[in-house]
Amino acid sequence: MSMDGLSVTDCERCSALCESRSRIVNGVGPADADLVFVGEAPGANEDAEGEPFVGRSGDVLDAALRKAGLARADVRITNCVRCRPPDNRDPHVAELDNCREFLATELQRLDPSLVVTLGKVPSEHLLGRSLSVTEAAGETFDARVDEVACRVLVSVHPAATLYDRSQQETFERAVARAADLAGLGDGNSGQSRLGEF
Ligand code: URA
Repeated sequence: MSMDGLSVTDCERCSALCESRSRIVNGVGPADADLVFVGEAPGANEDAEGEPFVGRSGDVLDAALRKAGLARADVRITNCVRCRPPDNRDPHVAELDNCREFLATELQRLDPSLVVTLGKVPSEHLLGRSLSVTEAAGETFDARVDEVACRVLVSVHPAATLYDRSQQETFERAVARAADLAGLGDGNSGQSRLGEF
């Protein structure tokens, strides 16, 4: 295993993921980003392009960022697990644990004011307990990734909006609130919505 700055350059901790991945997909975005989005693991598009959230989920995330007055390049986007699981299955607990050190190192170096967990897997991984992301969406919690303390805002996964249109507003509100809490964005889309959560 080796890391170069914020990027893992070499890792063979998970044998199944070494077989299913074409590459390690590291986080993208500024190395001093104040707002960090954490997903679950790369899918097929991310594995092919080497960047998190570049498929349909990425389109949904980009659109919500724009609505909140942010560009994708303003924020950091990363995943709990950096290699594509076979058949897009959820990452196993052992795989999440193997990759946890890399996320902790990335968060320690970024020292963001807010981390947004996109969906159930990253929310439960960072908060260390089970929860309903639909109910908790937009709420903030103090969390710890290994020794690294961070403030977490829970969100539904952007893909949830593709299966259930009613989740779109929940997702967009969470992103807008995150932009507000991080002191970013245009101050309109989210500010007026703060009381809605
Ligand atoms: N879903 C995720 O959780 N992460 C990605 O990078 C893409 C889709």
